[in-house]
Amino acid sequence: MNIRSIATRLAGGLAAVLLSLPVSLPGAQAQGRFPDRTITIIVPFAAGGPTDVVARQLGEAMGRDLGVSVVSENVTGAGGTIGGQRVAQARSDGYTLLLGNIGVATAPSLYRNLPYDVLKSFDTVGLITPVPMTLVARPNIPAANLPELVAWLKRPGAEVNIGHAGLGSASHLCATLLRSLLQTPMTPIAFRGTAPIMTELMAGRLDLTCDQTTNTVPYIQDNRVRAFATTTDQRLAALPNLPTAAEGGLPGLTVTVWHGFYVPAGTPRPVIDRLSQALRTALADEKVVTRFAELATTPEPADRATPEAHRALLEAEVARWRPIIQSAGEYAD
Ligand code: MLT
Repeated sequence: MNIRSIATRLAGGLAAVLLSLPVSLPGAQAQGRFPDRTITIIVPFAAGGPTDVVARQLGEAMGRDLGVSVVSENVTGAGGTIGGQRVAQARSDGYTLLLGNIGVATAPSLYRNLPYDVLKSFDTVGLITPVPMTLVARPNIPAANLPELVAWLKRPGAEVNIGHAGLGSASHLCATLLRSLLQTPMTPIAFRGTAPIMTELMAGRLDLTCDQTTNTVPYIQDNRVRAFATTTDQRLAALPNLPTAAEGGLPGLTVTVWHGFYVPAGTPRPVIDRLSQALRTALADEKVVTRFAELATTPEPADRATPEAHRALLEAEVARWRPIIQSAGEYAD
């Protein structure tokens, strides 16, 4: 064996050893064998609520596709921004995701001291589902339909409270819209999510809320809360007897809550693509489609469950809400 062939053999051996060693660079490691451990979805609102329900459905289906567990962790408070901060500060390795709703786009205008930059601190993975909302009240509210409810809310001397999940949350935006449409004062009461709001409504301690169907449908179907309207143009198949707000005389009460997955900025593109692919697979999963339909929502189509479509909507929504919030002059801090 000459020197040249020894050198070649050594080089070959060294290459084989190097290939069998775990790659230590975080980016390269993530690309090489992603995922190889549990992925955590940060749900920025209370357990059992609408965001949590969507996260658990998707986590299960994405986990099947990715071959690892995908679990949810509720990191609540400040209209979802505490959970947002957790993900903004997490490692950019694809193992920590934020499931954020429309509130991600209102936060930069509402929270002037937001400890992260929505457009710079996150990479987008894909849109998930546009969820309708419903106007619901305590079961013993003295109104049988929306016109009666409006009359009751506007009666002289009325003292009404309306629950929401923190400033900038979907339920807060809907409550704000309702108050401005009716031009009547209501006392907003903040919770860490809309799941605890249902408990308060059922106990009769809270009057009203506007919340997503992914939380309210089972309560409405069991008559545990009283429903007055959907915030959609058409009635919902899961709640065929519930009129739209327009049918009840409030055509301006139209809201749909978009949702998306975010990872910390700087996550390697192949990792984002793998997560995005798993999202699209999960959204086509029969179990997910069926459960979403039961909860009166639909999976986003594959061409919207992409980083690009999600990014475009996020940028448009941040720009749309800024002047609205600035002219209202109401800030969270
Ligand atoms: C929740 O998960 O509790 C809701 O999505 C909060 C909200 O109204 O945005």
